[in-house]
Amino acid sequence: MNSFHRQRTPAAGVLLAAAWLCAAGGCGDGSTASPEAAANGAAGNGAAPVQPNERDTGRTGMLAVQSEPFGEVDGQPITQYLLSNKNGLAVSIIDYGAIVTSVVTSDKDGRRENITLGFADLEGYLGKDPYFGAICGRYANRIARGKFSIGDEQYELAINNEPNHLHGGTKGFNEVVWQARPLSNEMTEGEAVGVELKYHSPDGEEGYPGALDVTVTYTLDNDDRLRIDYEAVTDKPTVLNLTNHCYWNLAGVPPDGRREGLPTMLDHELMLNADHYLPVDETLIPTGELKPVAGTPFDFTEPHKIGERIGVLKAGVENGGYDHCYALNGQPGELKLAARVVHPESGRTMQVQTTEPGVQFYTGNFLDGSEANGGFEQHQGFCLECQHYPNSPNEKRFPETLLKPGEVYRQTTIHQFGVQLPGAGGAVKVSN
Ligand code: BGC
Repeated sequence: MNSFHRQRTPAAGVLLAAAWLCAAGGCGDGSTASPEAAANGAAGNGAAPVQPNERDTGRTGMLAVQSEPFGEVDGQPITQYLLSNKNGLAVSIIDYGAIVTSVVTSDKDGRRENITLGFADLEGYLGKDPYFGAICGRYANRIARGKFSIGDEQYELAINNEPNHLHGGTKGFNEVVWQARPLSNEMTEGEAVGVELKYHSPDGEEGYPGALDVTVTYTLDNDDRLRIDYEAVTDKPTVLNLTNHCYWNLAGVPPDGRREGLPTMLDHELMLNADHYLPVDETLIPTGELKPVAGTPFDFTEPHKIGERIGVLKAGVENGGYDHCYALNGQPGELKLAARVVHPESGRTMQVQTTEPGVQFYTGNFLDGSEANGGFEQHQGFCLECQHYPNSPNEKRFPETLLKPGEVYRQTTIHQFGVQLPGAGGAVKVSN
């Protein structure tokens, strides 16, 4: 059992001292606070401690990476990292599950709100939550009946989503503690700050062959891009599919657990750069076919409101909405547009690019308002999970998910946030 203990933030004196050093110019160009402040950092890991006023607003007005304690799991301290940029965009990430706990952006009137689903504290993430913000692995999405073979060797994985294996099994990468290292501006390529997270998955973990070393790096730049780079190596042939499982609601999600009046995301306008999607059986395993979207409710090649045709799916066998992998146009391995989302009322926009061949579009069909679901109801968030196709280890027609010793798994996915001003004629002004 995971133990939970919410730690207190560092003493006010430490925070004030660090604030004074920043005010006195000690934070320089802002990549981190002064060495003194960093030494007093919450986690003692090189990131400056989060300042009291910044915890609420995330606004540092500069590229910065800060940290604060976020509780404990089995005696291990968990740290939250706050990445922020000059426009006031702020992204929080914890080293438990490599989870994105919040993304704060401005709307068209400059109102700054969190736009991802999550919990107010660590305890929520320790239960069987719906993978809010997490890195899923070793195999994100489903493997039919939890079985696959590599050569003559057959492997059996946990059936944690009857009758299939889902998101890495009973204890996936979303439930382990990663080794984190904050990345100051000087440590990243170009102008950006970030956090690098590493996890060693032992041979046989959750039934998967081979010891796997995974690195996930989140970086934030001043162009409001949140970039996720993945790398992995193995010592035996294994299967691998990694993704980030953020749920989005660009209308704004209160971080403190208040859910009254929270709108669904059915009014968001979505464009998916995919001429084909993968139809599924009644257990959500792809049939193996790549079906043209043209003339179906799955067609998002031109922008449509997410809710516009969802009723057709709900009346069918589709489990209450979209939960399908789309085959992206373009080449796997090449960075290409995956999706564009606009929330007309707030003006907030998000564009997703990826090197992956697919994106799982999931409309939060199984969110049921329960505590385990953070109180979120059906369709209060949607996911755009860039990844390889579900059940690829059993489907020869799909792009390969086998990783062999000597090879390096690589993926890059970029989320770019912005604001579409009224009357901008569809033009997206990137500003936060
Ligand atoms: C899957 C859904 C599942 C959700 C939460 C998504 O990636 O496609 O079917 O309910 O994750 O587990």
